[in-house]
Amino acid sequence: MNDEPVMATNDDASECKRGAVQLGYWQDNYISLFAKQIQRKAPEIHRGYYARVKGVETFIHKFLKKAGESAQIINLGSGFDTLYWRLKDEGVRITNFIEIDFPSVTARKCYIIKRNKQLLEKIYEQDGEVKLSSTDLHAGTYHCIGADLRNISELETKFQQAEINFSSPTLFIAECVLVYIENDCVNRLLSWIATKFKSALFVNYEMCNINDTFGDVMLGNLRARGCTLAGVAACKNLETQQNRFLNSNWQGSKAWDMVEVYYALPTTERQRIEKLEFLDEQELLIQLFQHYCICIGWLGTEFAEIDINDR
Ligand SMILES: C[S@@+](CC[C@H](N)C(=O)[O-])C[C@H]1O[C@@H](n2cnc3c(N)ncnc32)[C@H](O)[C@@H]1O
Repeated sequence: MNDEPVMATNDDASECKRGAVQLGYWQDNYISLFAKQIQRKAPEIHRGYYARVKGVETFIHKFLKKAGESAQIINLGSGFDTLYWRLKDEGVRITNFIEIDFPSVTARKCYIIKRNKQLLEKIYEQDGEVKLSSTDLHAGTYHCIGADLRNISELETKFQQAEINFSSPTLFIAECVLVYIENDCVNRLLSWIATKFKSALFVNYEMCNINDTFGDVMLGNLRARGCTLAGVAACKNLETQQNRFLNSNWQGSKAWDMVEVYYALPTTERQRIEKLEFLDEQELLIQLFQHYCICIGWLGTEFAEIDINDR
């Protein structure tokens, strides 16, 4: 199987995020260390990324509020995500932070981290042991590991090396990742998590409502770049997204399309970013938002009440 086009989607995501950050959509002091500058994208792309990043962040903070300092975060298909450093800057303390992606992607990430003092100084803790290989980095509470999410036994070994704690309240994040993975493999991964963890929240951002012309165009664009969308069946609608969790022994699941997520973000922030660039086609943005969603799944009762509309 050729996973190269799927890995390349990480460059796309990080470059688009860098572009939006540069225009002032949100603050990220680290993304420019990972992603190169690209030609300016359309305003609706920037707003789409804004809703994605801020929507996921909203759930991260709801999780952290409930979980406290014993929290553990596991970012699946993390690519060049900068969440670890952003949370450090906010003064958030957690017990463990694990990032997983294909070894070729983590090798690039480890290389960039090793060469940047700004990134390094945030992961080295005093007197902490640092273990490095070409694809994996373990330092203090931060772990970046190369593994294929379709291979559970490899994941188990790598998780052990990352000192995973099955009894800590754990947040799993998958941002535009599961759509690239065969449904059988996603179900196996979700079921494995459900047998191992007692208290967990899973935040999944990806496509939904794909069975229309707009969806066809979106999928066609990805396929044209060589990406097999092996997990696309679960993106049919919000219900199929939720069923993925419910059928894999998770206790509960909820989902919101990005129209709802966007309008649940703080009004003042929304008004601020809407002034950054003139948007010609409001209709196009709404269509884009209708085709993406955030779906959560939970294990244990602690995270059952989480809702995007709660203040
Ligand atoms: C669209 S990118 C998103 C990256 C990051 N989550 C973000 O939103 O910025 C998808 C990522 O998922 C990773 N990925 C896809 N399938 C994977 C698999 N089977 N195992 C590990 N990583 C995978 C890709 O390598 C890529 O980095």
